[in-house]
Formats: sequence, C-alpha cells, structure tokens
Amino acid sequence: MQRDQVDKENLEVLDLAVDLASQAGAIQRQRYETQLDVRTKSASIDLVTEVDRQCEALIIAGLQAVRPGDAILAEEGGGRDHDESPWRWVIDPLDGTTNYAHGFPRFCVSIGVEYRGSRRIGVVYDPLLDELFYAVHGAGAWLGQRRLAVSSTAVLGEALVATGFAYDVHDSQDDNLARFAQVLKAARGIRRDGSAALDLCYVAAGRLDAYWEFKLHAWDVVAGCLIVEEAGGCVSDILGGPVPPAGDEIVATNALLHAAILAQMNA
Ligand code: IPD
Ligand code: CA
Ligand code: CA
Repeated sequence: MQRDQVDKENLEVLDLAVDLASQAGAIQRQRYETQLDVRTKSASIDLVTEVDRQCEALIIAGLQAVRPGDAILAEEGGGRDHDESPWRWVIDPLDGTTNYAHGFPRFCVSIGVEYRGSRRIGVVYDPLLDELFYAVHGAGAWLGQRRLAVSSTAVLGEALVATGFAYDVHDSQDDNLARFAQVLKAARGIRRDGSAALDLCYVAAGRLDAYWEFKLHAWDVVAGCLIVEEAGGCVSDILGGPVPPAGDEIVATNALLHAAILAQMNA
C-alpha cells in the first residue's frame, strides 16, 4: 500500500487493527488443536470456545486503550455500540469457530472499521497461513505486499463459487439448499469452507469467483466487503442493492459474474 497517500488517521486505525488481529491470531495459532472448552449459543451447532472470548477481550482491551471513544460491535458481546463516535469497529474475533473446534484449518480474525456508517478499513488475518488481507477505502486491497484483484472469469460455468449455511439450518425452511443445488448445477465448482470473512477475501484475491450467504451478521462481512470492493469486485444484497447494515444477505463477485449470480439467486 502506498502509505504516503493514505490519510493519517486512516493509517493509525489500519495499523491498530493489524496489530490487534495479529495478536489475536497468535492466540488462535497457539491454541489450535489443543483441548478447548466448547459451548453452544443459539443452537446445538452454534459453537463458542474460550479462544473466541479470549481473542475478543484482547482486541477490545487493546482498542479501548488507544481509542476509548470509538463504538464497538463485537460478536461475543464485549463491545459498546453507540452513536456518539463517528468511528465504529465491527469485530469477529474468530470467524470459523466450527472449523476451529474441529481442528479444520480454516478460520481467521476479522476487523472492519466504519466511519460515519461507511466501510473505511478492513483487516482479515488467517493465522495458520500467516495471510493478512487488508484494505483502506480508496487505497486498494492487499495481501501482505501484493495488491489484490478479483478474477476475470466471465462465465458461470467456469466459476468456483462458495456459500455457507446458517446455524438454524436444522429447523428452518429458509435453508439456502435450493440455491445451493441450483448453483451447483451451473458453476464449475462450489465450496462451503466455513469462514465468511475468508470467503470474501478469497473473492478479492481471485481464488473464488463469487460467494453468497444469508443470515450472517455485520461482524462477518464488514471487513471482507471492503476488501472485495477495493479489489474491483462487487457486493450487494440478492436484488443488487446495498448489503444490509445487519450483514444478513450478501452476494460478492468479481463484478463480471454479478448479474449471473443474482439471476441464480432469484430464479
Ligand atoms: C460463521 C462462519 C460460517 C458461516 C456462518 C457464520 P462464526 O461464523 O462465517 O462460514 O457460514 O454463518 O456464522 O460463527 O464461525 O464466527
Ligand atoms: Ca463469523
Ligand atoms: Ca465468530
């Protein structure tokens, strides 16, 4: 990133987010495949571990020490969301908890920062691969020193696409299975890897051509959406409008495939 072209406060926020994501990632690396205290939340398949909570506590303490006035929305509830500050940090301390609890090596830390309601900074850190994805609005998306660009796949039949399923999948009729079947029959391949934030970063990096999911939360998508957009991709709801602030409906593509994926979503 050309740091001399980025506004000073944006750089300070980026550097802090990178530092906190790296520290949380180090905990995840240390505790990976060790004995964990695994509990359930909204459903029997919605898990949380002490590593989720430890990572969130570390990030919030580090953030409040430097920027005590900023609003914080964090998945495990440790933040303080309020309207007084223009800055809001949206934090998923461990995205991919089911994977983490099973020793499946695909999880990350996701930190998105909004300024007056707009996505400004995104940091996603995969501690096992030591891959740091980040973006600043207007300054591109990066994987370490490499500038990211979405793929040039223009045909759905040549696309690798990812999705995910919500924790109410055992009970809900609104389960994404019909759309999964539809895209499976139309795309080159489909993946369900279990980390929404990494799925978005993989669209930005051209490793995936498209990704969609429902019933997510802001902490799953704020960082990744900015990273996709800054890599030249497109993010929307399933009608092509803005991603809802709650993050509960998202289609992310390399832009070339956006219309084709929206058509599949609405068929
Ligand atoms: C989950 C992951 C998963 C997605 C779920 C999310 P968590 O986040 O991103 O890929 O399918 O809907 O809730 O619970 O591991 O932070
Ligand atoms: Ca998550
Ligand atoms: Ca999480």
